[in-house]
Amino acid sequence: MQKKLVDKYGRELNYLRLSVTDRCNFRCYYCMPEEGIDFVQRKDLLSYEELEYLTRIFCGMGVDKIRITGGEPFVRKGIMHFLDQLSKIDTLQQITVTSNGTITAEQIDDLKKMGITKINVSLDSLDRQRFFEMTRRDKFDEVFTCILNLLDKGFTVKLNCVVADDKNVADIIPFVALTEKYPLAVRFLEEMPFNGTGKFETPKWNHLALYDYIAKHFPTIQKLRDEKNSTSTNYKIPGYSGSFGIIPSFSRTFCGSCNRIRLSATGEMRTCLYGPPSTNLRDVLRQGATETELMDEILRAVARKEKDGFEAEALSAKAPKKSMSYLGG
Ligand code: GTP
Ligand code: 5AD
Ligand code: SF4
Repeated sequence: MQKKLVDKYGRELNYLRLSVTDRCNFRCYYCMPEEGIDFVQRKDLLSYEELEYLTRIFCGMGVDKIRITGGEPFVRKGIMHFLDQLSKIDTLQQITVTSNGTITAEQIDDLKKMGITKINVSLDSLDRQRFFEMTRRDKFDEVFTCILNLLDKGFTVKLNCVVADDKNVADIIPFVALTEKYPLAVRFLEEMPFNGTGKFETPKWNHLALYDYIAKHFPTIQKLRDEKNSTSTNYKIPGYSGSFGIIPSFSRTFCGSCNRIRLSATGEMRTCLYGPPSTNLRDVLRQGATETELMDEILRAVARKEKDGFEAEALSAKAPKKSMSYLGG
């Protein structure tokens, strides 16, 4: 009997976000401090064999889209071989990756050979100095070259730009303007309270403010049809090659159509980015559970999925101390 992942509100969970490491070669201020976080020990990480085994179980339960996240997935040794193994799972319709854009040219070629051609790149500024201030790394040129290389090789590229109230507002219009020449999908994200410090203020630049601001500069703005389960509301400027979207990641207006499950690098399974883990599949697996027992554990976790994450007003007060690099975005 097939055990499908449908929660008690009828949402079908077919999208697994797999964080393969909490480590990163950047230090984005909204994600982790300069000194990094208390990184996970190797023995606590799911091995690639365990990750693949669990992924196959999820795929047998209806997951057909996977996003590989981190930290920065490409800093984990052996990632290319792991991706190659995943690309052989024939029920998987889509393998996508979120990266900070420090993927080498050779890796880009290899990804293409595996058929992994959809990459989301985090890029918060088009200005070298602001990029440095936000990521604490002087890597703008490397990241931008990577993006151009991906486009050149025919990848579908989305850029994730976290809009920070006092840091990169000056980048909003240049990012929209960038879509004139390049077939990119730029997405503006509301900042979320995952900075590892537990301190957070409700963002001033929320999705409504973002839309008004952009629409004032580009009065011909046109609404696009959004894909099912899309977290972004999408637009384009007529005549431009690319498009842009707004992700209300703090306001979370998309919970009603949430189709996501998250698995952290240590095996924590979450059915909501904001919620606590529902179970730890690494522990269940290492205690010797059979495949059926693992499936039952997953089904029980799905049955506990909340209708919505925390109430928005409570979010800043309850600001989770875990970094996004651990949770996987
Ligand atoms: P595609 O749209 O398929 O390209 O996927 P994507 O991985 O870019 O991711 P998605 O649209 O799922 O998410 C982009 C960003 O939106 C994430 O990095 C998060 O910041 C935010 N996001 C995604 N899912 C959730 C969620 O369930 N809750 C909240 N609050 N934010 C989310
Ligand atoms: N708020 C909003 N987005 C964040 N990301 C990481 N931390 C935060 C945060 N505190 C984004 C990154 C990346 C995606 C996976 O999550 O920019 O694109
Ligand atoms: Fe690294 Fe992404 Fe966190 Fe930036 S947001 S430090 S790129 S994991």
